[in-house]
Amino acid sequence: MPLDTLTITDNRTGQIYTLPIENGTIRAIDLRKIKTGHDDFGLMTYDPAFTNTASCRSAITYIDGDKGILRYRGYPIEVLAEHCTYLEVAYLLLFGELPTQSELKTWVFEITHHTMLHETTKKFMEGFRDFAHPMAMLVSTVAALSTVYPDAKNVHDPDTRLLQIKRLIGKMPSIAAMSYRHMVGFPYVYPDNDLTYTENFMNMLWKMVEPKYVANPVIARALDILFVLHADHEQNCSTNTMRAVGSAQADPYLATASAASALSGPLHGGANEEVLRMLDEIGSKNNVPAYIKKIKEGKGKLMGFGHRVYKNYDPRAKIIKWAADQVFEVTGRNARLEIALELERIALEDDYFVQRKLYPNVDFYSGIMYQAMGFKPEMFTVLFAIPRTVGWLTQWQEMIVDPEQKIARPRQIWIGHDTREFVPMEKRGKTEAVLQK
Ligand code: CMC
Repeated sequence: MPLDTLTITDNRTGQIYTLPIENGTIRAIDLRKIKTGHDDFGLMTYDPAFTNTASCRSAITYIDGDKGILRYRGYPIEVLAEHCTYLEVAYLLLFGELPTQSELKTWVFEITHHTMLHETTKKFMEGFRDFAHPMAMLVSTVAALSTVYPDAKNVHDPDTRLLQIKRLIGKMPSIAAMSYRHMVGFPYVYPDNDLTYTENFMNMLWKMVEPKYVANPVIARALDILFVLHADHEQNCSTNTMRAVGSAQADPYLATASAASALSGPLHGGANEEVLRMLDEIGSKNNVPAYIKKIKEGKGKLMGFGHRVYKNYDPRAKIIKWAADQVFEVTGRNARLEIALELERIALEDDYFVQRKLYPNVDFYSGIMYQAMGFKPEMFTVLFAIPRTVGWLTQWQEMIVDPEQKIARPRQIWIGHDTREFVPMEKRGKTEAVLQK
């Protein structure tokens, strides 16, 4: 018997099956031949929330959650954060190799020349209510770009795909900044091609009446590092959404808007905004033990803690803590940081968190840092969406060219009624119909 196989005995029939094991995985479809008879559909796997199912073969981002390792295309995140700009990392993710000087120059030029929004897109954004959440504005506007670039639906043409990818990476900061300016009631600022990706974003956010915006270099670099850290994270909820929607051959604007919608949830990218709310609710360092007690009693979750994959310190959180120190040198220390440090100290010693391997994740310190940089909490998830765009698009591109991929379509286990006799309206009694709680 070959070693890389799995032998299964079906005790219902006594039949023995041998399935190949490849990359520590069996193919779920191989289980379908395990049947009790001709009418039997065959065995399926049941995996709510995909806790143990690989949905693709990928060469983009590698995570070892137990060891706290994260690599893009083989390069450790720590090295990339120290030595590269965000656009350099975006190139690496998308094309698989670090760019040469001239490749990077061309790439930066191209992205910079896709930062403008069509004036009708600006008008579209003006239509939002003044209290509109910038993340919801971003999601809707990205979807609306599908109407501006109808060529995007040609998803099987590599040149068209690349053009949309450049457009999206270029336009994301412009949409994000416009959402913010709309929220605070300031006039929109057009992109400035002399500036770097992050400096230009800061320009579009914060330029007032000065003729030329000059970004603080420490803040601009810290923001760029945060963008590097958030660029991709393999098959997380929003990436899975991107791949699922993209698998139906929806255009990349609609698929990206769907991915961004998933990101907005408080258990995903929305967690950074929730961390700030939580720290405000705690109020002071002295209240931390009582708050931890409440969490352990099952009253809520410690936001910014825990991860589906990391059962160790999230490597991104370590780098963020380091970058935060650089930012605080410029902005002064933030009172919330004291609460966060105390929360982390107590949680990391507490059995509840130790046993469940709950460590700070990327969102735990990013919010405090964003706030120190001058961002409003409503912008935090938007700040996540900008750099993650390249991750979504790289995963989408990989999915489109993968000959094994098809429209994503899971199965279900039927737990409802068998066929029922139709009851005419006049014969219906009081129904038992309730919305599940
Ligand atoms: N605070 C308290 N208890 C927690 C937490 C938390 N933050 N996270 C998980 N647990 C407990 C959970 O109640 C469960 O306990 P028990 O075994 O007694 O039922 C156990 O730990 C395992 O948790 P789980 O819910 O099965 O884990 P999951 O993999 O389904 O969820 C998570 C992962 C990230 C959704 C979850 O840890 C969480 O809700 N964290 C808070 C929100 C957050 O910070 N999200 C950002 C994630 S990182 C960035 C991103 O992906 O966008």
